[in-house]
Amino acid sequence: METLTVEDAITSRKSVRAFTKDPVSKETIKKLLNISARAPSGTNTQPWKVYVLEGQALHNLCEKVCAAYDSIAANPELEKEYQASYDYYPSKWFSPYIDRRRENGWSLYGLLGIAKGEKDKMHAQHRKNFEAFGAPVCIFFTIDKELGKGSMLDYGMFLQSLMIAARGEGLDTCPQAAWNHYAKIIFPLIGAKDNEMLVCGMSLGYVNKADIVNTFHTPRVGAEEFTTWLS
Ligand SMILES: Cc1cc2nc3c(=O)[nH]c(=O)nc-3n(C[C@H](O)[C@H](O)[C@H](O)COP(=O)(O)O)c2cc1C
Repeated sequence: METLTVEDAITSRKSVRAFTKDPVSKETIKKLLNISARAPSGTNTQPWKVYVLEGQALHNLCEKVCAAYDSIAANPELEKEYQASYDYYPSKWFSPYIDRRRENGWSLYGLLGIAKGEKDKMHAQHRKNFEAFGAPVCIFFTIDKELGKGSMLDYGMFLQSLMIAARGEGLDTCPQAAWNHYAKIIFPLIGAKDNEMLVCGMSLGYVNKADIVNTFHTPRVGAEEFTTWLS
């Protein structure tokens, strides 16, 4: 396998939403987690706690969360029973973030041929989150609830390190906050405790190049737009 430069590893990372069934060895996953654990954290607190699911354990969890997700579609009243573990997004959206969010959503749905209002198709696409997009591995990340906001910053560095390290092994990822609504189903299955909060999940595996969803490429605002130079 070719060795990637740091730049290539970072810029080749993208959210992959269809994986092959090819397995990833425990040894490789352990290697990736040990690399990620080199991420910095305030006073070296290392707030990460990780649960790796594969095989039957992953299959069972996906089945249960998919059933809950489907039950909400059948009875929207049930949605309030599945509150997100924390506020990832603002309660009220505003520009320019709402515009980027909309562009992202509609570009992805457009690519997949899903038009506005096609609820069943949207449900089916979003449901793939809870099948870990077909990946052989899904990792769940929790944090101690008592830790401060800064620890979430540390966590982000850990997660990005993991995604970049995965590139180095020819692997791809999709970080997933979608799971955060289903902590009450996930926690008993993974053995997480009451003092933990679900930060997100992450599908890990080899990209399915044949699936059109993986041709999706997201734009970025250039540095000239978000940077102020002072001298
Ligand atoms: C913490 C986090 C949670 C995310 N949750 C989801 C998710 O639940 N489902 C999904 O399909 N993508 C999810 N994404 C992927 C973002 O949509 C994606 O990172 C963004 O559109 C930029 O695209 P890129 O990752 O391909 O560069 C998440 C990303 C992050 C960082």
